[in-house]
Amino acid sequence: MSFNWINAEEFSFNSFLLMDRWMVRMICNKYVGWDEFCDNLGIALAHNPSVAWYFAHKSPESKPAIEQMIAKAPKNLPPHEIRKAEVFVIHAMETSVVYVYPDIMNQNCDYINAWDKQLLFELADFTDKVVLDLGSGTGRLAFAAAEKAKRVYASEPTDRLREYMRDKIKRENVDNVVVVDGMIEQIPYEDNSFDIVMSGHVVGDNYDLEIAEMSRVVKNGGYIIDCIGEDNRKREADEELIKRGFESFYHASKSGGDIYRYRKLVNK
Ligand SMILES: C[S@@+](CC[C@H](N)C(=O)[O-])C[C@H]1O[C@@H](n2cnc3c(N)ncnc32)[C@H](O)[C@@H]1O
Repeated sequence: MSFNWINAEEFSFNSFLLMDRWMVRMICNKYVGWDEFCDNLGIALAHNPSVAWYFAHKSPESKPAIEQMIAKAPKNLPPHEIRKAEVFVIHAMETSVVYVYPDIMNQNCDYINAWDKQLLFELADFTDKVVLDLGSGTGRLAFAAAEKAKRVYASEPTDRLREYMRDKIKRENVDNVVVVDGMIEQIPYEDNSFDIVMSGHVVGDNYDLEIAEMSRVVKNGGYIIDCIGEDNRKREADEELIKRGFESFYHASKSGGDIYRYRKLVNK
């Protein structure tokens, strides 16, 4: 699926030098079997030795895949063919490329820029609560919750996005948001630490593991919330969440998307 959040033609292949290990690992390994992608990535890496070096050192576990893709790449390609391969990869990875350009992410991603924080406040009373936001991105949910909560932990595995949120905290004198590293599959907190555990556009790769982790760190009587932003996508309710005890709340976005928000009261 193409979101067109960026025009790949305008981006340098050096964008990949800004990526974290988990992203490099995903790019080099998740699309094995998608030959067109692997062939273009091989060409782009073969002709961008600094990026190839960075990938192999940042994610040593990806080195065999990187070497294999580079070995398959044709030699002596003209510059326009190399650029075509770079643009293919940048476009295919646009949802990851925007993570390393947080201002562009805020500006171009409709789920962020068309969103109204009341949609979060309708799901729970955040007043004086201790909240964890998983995969915060540029902090859409975290900074909204911080207007009411006692403290919000904004957990985000992408370094560029953590730095973006830290700059915003400094610029806007926010004193109750703490930015931390972490993945939803392995939340770096003790059991029963938070009144509310929330996320948006993160849950879904491994429901059992992700919801088990969210349930572990939320207190008895607390809420788990999944609150996506506003977009124009037609979608069905997420049966995986509903069958795991989540209530769903539907509305149509202004751009015609089907938006479902989810909430689960946790009883331990
Ligand atoms: C589509 S963005 C959504 C950002 C934010 N939650 C929002 O809705 O505005 C997904 C975010 O999750 C982060 N992410 C990706 N994989 C993750 C994982 N396994 N655990 C936690 N966060 C993850 C990404 O770095 C990115 O910031």
